[in-house]
Amino acid sequence: MAVIPVVTPGGAYEVRIAPGLLARAAEECAPFLRNRETAVVTDANVARHWRAPVEASFAAAGYSTHWFELPPGEASKSWAQLGQLLEWLLAREVERGDAILALGGGMAGDITGLAAALLKRGCRFIQLPTTLLAQVDSSVGGKTAVNMGAGKNLVGAFHQPALVLADLTALETLPARELRAGYAEVVKYGVLGDAAFFAWCEVNGAALLAGDAAAREYAVAHSVAAKAAIVAEDERETTGQRALLNLGHTFGHALEAATGFSDRLLHGEAVALGMVLAARFSARRGLMAQAEAERIAAHIAATGLPAEIATLGLDCDGQALAAHMHHDKKMDAGALPFVLLRGIGEAFLDRSVTLGEVAAFLDGQISPD
Ligand SMILES: NC(=O)c1ccc[n+]([C@@H]2O[C@H](COP(=O)([O-])OP(=O)(O)OC[C@H]3O[C@@H](n4cnc5c(N)ncnc54)[C@H](O)[C@@H]3O)[C@@H](O)[C@H]2O)c1
Ligand SMILES: [Zn+2]
Repeated sequence: MAVIPVVTPGGAYEVRIAPGLLARAAEECAPFLRNRETAVVTDANVARHWRAPVEASFAAAGYSTHWFELPPGEASKSWAQLGQLLEWLLAREVERGDAILALGGGMAGDITGLAAALLKRGCRFIQLPTTLLAQVDSSVGGKTAVNMGAGKNLVGAFHQPALVLADLTALETLPARELRAGYAEVVKYGVLGDAAFFAWCEVNGAALLAGDAAAREYAVAHSVAAKAAIVAEDERETTGQRALLNLGHTFGHALEAATGFSDRLLHGEAVALGMVLAARFSARRGLMAQAEAERIAAHIAATGLPAEIATLGLDCDGQALAAHMHHDKKMDAGALPFVLLRGIGEAFLDRSVTLGEVAAFLDGQISPD
């Protein structure tokens, strides 16, 4: 088992990474539970595969679990669902010292974390991430949120979990497309700060996606350690360090908006293409070699993730895409900071980019001459 400590002003905890953790969830969680009754929040897809082993583990240890199953999908990460979840937790008489369990991907983790932050002014919660994206990204770092009509993740809180159990076995039931999308966030850690890890991804990415257990454990542990180091320095995204995790996300967000935040383009797919765009934009600004940018594009394409904007069949131009960025919640006094690259592994925050410049660049990508 790999154990990665996360130490932040808002809390210190362990991320434990191994196969089989859900089947022994009760013994892993027991030191954090004050009560024999445990509330578990999940979604119906995850429940179909993973409720039984978790339930059995807790039953064998003398606990009863109570389940709140959200409808699967991003739409459940809503203010309305948050209200229902809080009412349900209150009806279950969950107390401040109790830990609420979040079993699932980033959707379940984000809404449960926010509910835990709000309930009685703050309850403990434990993340049991079941997607690759949640294991390497959303379960670590304490960002919680729901979506609002005005945009994604606009209402939330920083609230660190008490423990994260990343069961690698859970990835075996994850649809291949979701796995690949999560892999984009793994590659991101290499591209933003660790050239050697990017090179590891080039060599081992295909094996990881095909099911290689050692590759999965290494990649998840390495990614979590990278995120933990950043979050330890900048828990609340005030110094700019944590903002580097947004590499590919500003371009990606515009692509997600242009495709209606739908199944046409999953978040990780948008991030994959967004990273390629950030790299090519950096090359165009003379910051990094074009060949380095194309090396990123080649690895993204080799894993089956989108690397060319032209393949999306968007019916909008660069101007329209850049306009989506205008509504980004990272807008700061009218300027939008961009994560750009000086090379693979050398991301930095650039506050000098204008949306006009981005629009012109995107036009060239949408219809290359
Ligand atoms: N808090 C953060 O720091 C942070 C970071 C990145 C992303 N996020 C958020 O995470 C969310 C995306 O997370 P996600 O990609 O995990 O999405 P998700 O939770 O919606 O899961 C994706 C799909 O996989 C299914 N699923 C999950 N685990 C499964 C398993 N083991 N087997 C079979 N099916 C399974 C789900 O039911 C869902 O249909 C977004 O809401 C995003 O905003 C948060
Ligand atoms: Zn992301």
